[in-house]
Amino acid sequence: MEEDSQSQTPSAEALIQRLEALASEADEAAVAAADPEALEGIRIRFLGRKEGLLSSILRELGRLAPQERPAVGAAANRSKERVQATLDRRANEFATGKLVSEVVDATLPGRARWTGAVHPVARVVEELWQIFRTLGFTRARGPEAENEWYNFVALNTPLDHPAADEQDTIYLDKPNLLRSHTSPVQIRTLQSHQPPIRILAPGMVYRRDTADSTHTPAFWQLEGLVVDEGVTFVDFKATLAEFARRFWGPGTQVRFRPSFFPFTEPSAEVDVKRMVVHADGRREESPWIEIMGAGMVDPAVLDNVGYDSERYTGWAFGMGPARIAALKYGISDIRRFFENDVRLLEQLAQ
Ligand code: DAH
Repeated sequence: MEEDSQSQTPSAEALIQRLEALASEADEAAVAAADPEALEGIRIRFLGRKEGLLSSILRELGRLAPQERPAVGAAANRSKERVQATLDRRANEFATGKLVSEVVDATLPGRARWTGAVHPVARVVEELWQIFRTLGFTRARGPEAENEWYNFVALNTPLDHPAADEQDTIYLDKPNLLRSHTSPVQIRTLQSHQPPIRILAPGMVYRRDTADSTHTPAFWQLEGLVVDEGVTFVDFKATLAEFARRFWGPGTQVRFRPSFFPFTEPSAEVDVKRMVVHADGRREESPWIEIMGAGMVDPAVLDNVGYDSERYTGWAFGMGPARIAALKYGISDIRRFFENDVRLLEQLAQ
């Protein structure tokens, strides 16, 4: 875009653009120059004191307002240095008979660049999902911003229960809150679907917790729910035991310890004992490790969403994939998963 330099006052911006375009043009010409004579011609054409293109642009500097001049002056210096550097490099190539591209050994293998990987916890969620998928489960999800009814009341947890306390739960404007577990997805799924229900619902949950090696205020949970006619305690134990053996190997032992959750009756905590095979082939049993809370769905929960609890039964579980990932990768402090230190992520990448 040429400006009529006689009648119009040039703008600083337009001059800077012209200077940059000039440098690019000079660069290209210098790279294409066939011999030192051609190179000298380019130098005179662009950088020549009297007739050079750079000088002709700078002559317009005087017509700018004084406060605009320094920026254009600096741009002119940059363009000049850039063109001069290309001219020097090209002159050197003529002198030595070597192109810079010949100095570089193009046959060397390239530097491998790390392109990123799926986060270890997300990968464990995916592996868990692949197993439950083959056991007949489908995916479900619910909102992270919930309310007291879905998060507590419908799950048979009275609002004076300690879990509903503001000490433990992050409230938005009451009764709205950030879900403190993925169990409200059970309620939403029961409302929007008909049995048979077999769902797996992974997602983030939030608690007013101080971070330490086993807690973070935001963390993943993975909820499972099965509801149908004729679902029994045997289905519950057998399915979860089968899951554990598929995830940790056929030698895995599973134990159901009696526990309490308001939304299941009976409730259990599920532990696994893994068979660890060392590098030298030696086999060793791991200690018992708790992997989830679970139980038979309390009939009161089914009643709360209008199900006939005489006709339908079910079971449910909730687990923490970060804990499972920590076990799998030998990470002793769960906070490591949330720091996004690229060195750790790269080390655990597959
Ligand atoms: N919601 C429970 C928690 O966050 C975990 C849990 C326990 C979920 C038992 C379940 C269950 O579905 O049956 O601590």
